[in-house]
Amino acid sequence: MKIIIANDYDEVSRLAYGVIKNTVLANPNAVLGLATGSSPVGIYKLMAEDCARGEVSYKNVKTVNLDEYVGLPKDHEQSYKRFMQDNLFNRIDILPENTHLPDGTASDLQAECSRYDALVASLKPDVQLLGIGRNGHIAFNEPGTPFDSNTHTITLEESTRVANAKYFSSLNEVPRKAITLGIKGIMSAKRLLLVANGTEKSDAIARALGGPVDESCPASILQKHGDVVVVLDKNAASKLKF
Ligand code: GLP
Repeated sequence: MKIIIANDYDEVSRLAYGVIKNTVLANPNAVLGLATGSSPVGIYKLMAEDCARGEVSYKNVKTVNLDEYVGLPKDHEQSYKRFMQDNLFNRIDILPENTHLPDGTASDLQAECSRYDALVASLKPDVQLLGIGRNGHIAFNEPGTPFDSNTHTITLEESTRVANAKYFSSLNEVPRKAITLGIKGIMSAKRLLLVANGTEKSDAIARALGGPVDESCPASILQKHGDVVVVLDKNAASKLKF
């Protein structure tokens, strides 16, 4: 595991973007596993700026996202589909048909989970970008999720809903369920790229990187992957013991 400690959010974004840029320059047909939340926004901004300058093209790139709320219309301003369109897809030259997210509006969610697993297995992401929840979740795999889980629907922890309430007009509006790529699917990516910022992530980072590998901290499974790059700001790294 390679752990890089940066000064601030901008430097985290720049260093993490470097990993993505190198992946796409080395393989213009790369498959990128993408994430939502505030952590990747700076990375997406850099991707868009570089693409506009003609330095990197996403014309042959495919993407798979980690997760989606259940029950929000696709064009809802807080759906993860909309987030990805606004923050990235509409700002780079990627083909819409090459971008994939789980469908939280599917009438048969079980079938949707199976479809998504098969899709991710066929695409085999070259790099999977990850944020981390304050409780150590990755994607929406909450504490206690089995490490061998496939794509599944999950009831969000109250603390996760509270953390995400800042994007909604009230806590009540935050969906209670989500569909998420399982830990098995996340671990199937060739490389994992975890980014985290701020002291509110320092406990989760200390447990994920320095604690026991245990399902009570889903991100601790990263210790078992052979190719992981972690980019943290000083605050997120502040409780690491090494
Ligand atoms: C959300 C997402 C995760 C994300 C996490 C942290 O619940 N499902 O994929 O990594 O929260 O988000 P943020 O980067 O905004 O702190």
